[in-house]
Amino acid sequence: MDPKMKLHPPAGSFMGGGWAPGTSGEFGPGYNNSGQHGAIQSQNVGGMYQFSYEELANATNGFSQVNMLGQGGYGLVHKGVLPDGRVVAVKSLKSGSGQGEREFQAEVEIISRVHHRHLVSLVGYCIATGNKLLVYEFVANKTLEFHLHDKGGAGLDWSTRLRIAVGMAKGLAYLHEDCSPRIIHRDIKAANILIDNNFEAMVADFGLAKLTTDNNTHVSTRVMGTFGYLAPEYASSGKLSEKSDVFSFGVMLLEIVTGRRPIDLTNTMEDSLVDWARPLLTKALEDGNFEEVVDPGLEGRFDHDELSRMAACAAASIRHSARKRPKMSQIVRALEGDSSLDDLNDGVKPGQSTTFNPNGGSDAYDTRAYNADMMKFKKMVMDSEEFTSNEYGGDSSDK
Ligand SMILES: Nc1ncnc2c1ncn2[C@@H]1O[C@H](COP(=O)(O)OP(=O)(O)OP(=O)(O)O)[C@@H](O)[C@H]1O
Ligand SMILES: [Mg+2]
Repeated sequence: MDPKMKLHPPAGSFMGGGWAPGTSGEFGPGYNNSGQHGAIQSQNVGGMYQFSYEELANATNGFSQVNMLGQGGYGLVHKGVLPDGRVVAVKSLKSGSGQGEREFQAEVEIISRVHHRHLVSLVGYCIATGNKLLVYEFVANKTLEFHLHDKGGAGLDWSTRLRIAVGMAKGLAYLHEDCSPRIIHRDIKAANILIDNNFEAMVADFGLAKLTTDNNTHVSTRVMGTFGYLAPEYASSGKLSEKSDVFSFGVMLLEIVTGRRPIDLTNTMEDSLVDWARPLLTKALEDGNFEEVVDPGLEGRFDHDELSRMAACAAASIRHSARKRPKMSQIVRALEGDSSLDDLNDGVKPGQSTTFNPNGGSDAYDTRAYNADMMKFKKMVMDSEEFTSNEYGGDSSDK
């Protein structure tokens, strides 16, 4: 048997949950095996660190259960300590991420050059006979999803929420507008916003979706988790751009404002946060009364002007028409109160961007069409074990 099979669940078992890491009682793929792993000693290649498998196994106590931080669509994440004392998070990508080693290395190199106080840095990587691992700086205080939803927002007062929103907006603005080549995140969601001990936001996993070529079960799992964040043009044609990131960012702002989850998968699509919030936001932005939308957990303790700004940013970010969504730098300025909201709206009134255009184009993609696509898409994901990924992120263009 291929030793790497011991780390990865058999095809099809991932969503069923039966597979647990470490239950084989072994360290991991080929660790202490035939010596074929770990032949490469860690080295600094083009400014990024290339680790041997042994080094990462040592850092994580043999990828032990105790060190496990969590599990996402791409695989397991373990906490580790490097010999120099640096604390890291080691993400083991599931096998079947079909990208070749050279391509993988090139992408990793681009990502590892990106450093910003609101972006989680990639420290290095490891490729060992088919296994790919990514090593990130460790961020200590869980995720925005955890604080907002699992803990019901406790501890997230208004000023903390605003600080988190500004931080994640700055991180994304940097990826979109200051990096060369520019980077589209592709998987923006509250689970990918890590929180540090000062309750500052750190955007994680940028570029990762591009790095891994999804296999069937993987894409199902990932897309399920990311469902409520999908921009309409991405849902309908797989088209990705910075503006699809902006849409997903807008959904996170809605979560911060309302305290609600983006979608309840046990319910019908009509209950998506975006659909629920859109008309309420339009009304609230007109009459200045946010009672219906604001998180009851805040118990009325918020700054009205700041809340209006965040609500306006959310409303502008979730416009159907990608073109009419603001750029991340405009959102940063609006959230910080450094610009008039007219700048954000570019002449479009909140809630009025979805005029139906019978001649086609993105404006024609209205709420009904979006919902219909989402329903189809949801059904496809739910039904299909043989669902393949090409339409979603496999080969979509960045334009
Ligand atoms: N750099 C990090 N520092 C600390 N914890 C991390 C780090 N990266 C990931 N984690 C933890 O590991 C868990 C799993 O992360 P992972 O990125 O694999 O899954 P996800 O974010 O839920 O989904 P996706 O695979 O789409 O990113 C996270 O919820 C987080 O708690
Ligand atoms: Mg993640």
